[in-house]
Amino acid sequence: MKTILVTGANGEIGHGLISRLAEQPNLRIIALDLHELEENIKAKCYRVVTGDILDTALLESVSATYNFDTIYHLAALLSTKAERQPVLAHKVNVDGTLNLLEMAVGQSRVQGREIKFLYPSSIAVYGLPDLQKKERAGKVKEHEWLTPRTMYGINKLYCEQLGIYYAQHYRQLDAEAVRGHIDFRALRFPGLISAVTVPTGGTSDYAPEMLHAAAQAKPYPCFVREDTRISFMVMPDAIEALLGLEAAPRERLTRLVYNATAFNPSAGEIYELVRRAFPKAQVTFVPDLKRQKIVDSWPTDIDDSAARADWDWKPAYDFKRAFEEYLVPGVKQQYAVTDSVQYN
Ligand code: SER
Repeated sequence: MKTILVTGANGEIGHGLISRLAEQPNLRIIALDLHELEENIKAKCYRVVTGDILDTALLESVSATYNFDTIYHLAALLSTKAERQPVLAHKVNVDGTLNLLEMAVGQSRVQGREIKFLYPSSIAVYGLPDLQKKERAGKVKEHEWLTPRTMYGINKLYCEQLGIYYAQHYRQLDAEAVRGHIDFRALRFPGLISAVTVPTGGTSDYAPEMLHAAAQAKPYPCFVREDTRISFMVMPDAIEALLGLEAAPRERLTRLVYNATAFNPSAGEIYELVRRAFPKAQVTFVPDLKRQKIVDSWPTDIDDSAARADWDWKPAYDFKRAFEEYLVPGVKQQYAVTDSVQYN
């Protein structure tokens, strides 16, 4: 029986991950979130803890109760929200991660074995200075353009380094080896699009928002220019990527931080597919110049060849398949859209 801790369980990735983990036998999911979990997700968990990752007493009590094999630390404030509350973002994104890493070290000492720590990072760690350089940079590798311009990107980049420190250099000056063993693995996600949920507080949110608005026949003023281009992936692939990285044999991994991506349409190309599925979609492009600047600093594409080589990462959904086989049927079902009623 494996015991898995998922923080940020109520978030978009949390929902997808818990649903997928619940399909596996011999696995107990302990979910932690600031807010009450939705009933259908709750039912999939062995225990649900409602509380704050900044509450170290709470973390200690959770840690004293269970022996974790793997921790998926998903809790975070996304990029737009983090710009509005930078101090809170730093607390949750950085101090919260530090708390979880400390918990993992404590667990490792008590259990006398390595604890896996999976950390979703982001394309927000990259920061291209202007559109020309963004265009010229093309597919960005893990070590390139690490000059983020958002609080969220800075937090994610630093926490990747924290994780590496905990995995490789923790308390390196101690005379006696007190260090716990953490098997830290980070995955830099592109923008994520789910058919089931809409993200809150991100800056890549224009893509999922456009789709979900169209499916509900609501007008959508898109906050970026039509030619805006960054990488995306659909939620089922994001979950498979996390599970794939978790399952990869340690000896095959050549790094602790990996890019992963699936496709990189412009906002206009996303609108094309949305309109094809929902011909009456009312999308206008009304760029919010400040949010636009954030997206313009993210690469047009990322190079995930290391993930493909080291742990056989390969997305199941390209752009077209994502819309045809996952997103459009998913949102139609969710909002009970029948083509004959709404669009013929
Ligand atoms: N989806 C994130 C955001 O928009 C980027 O990783 O903040």
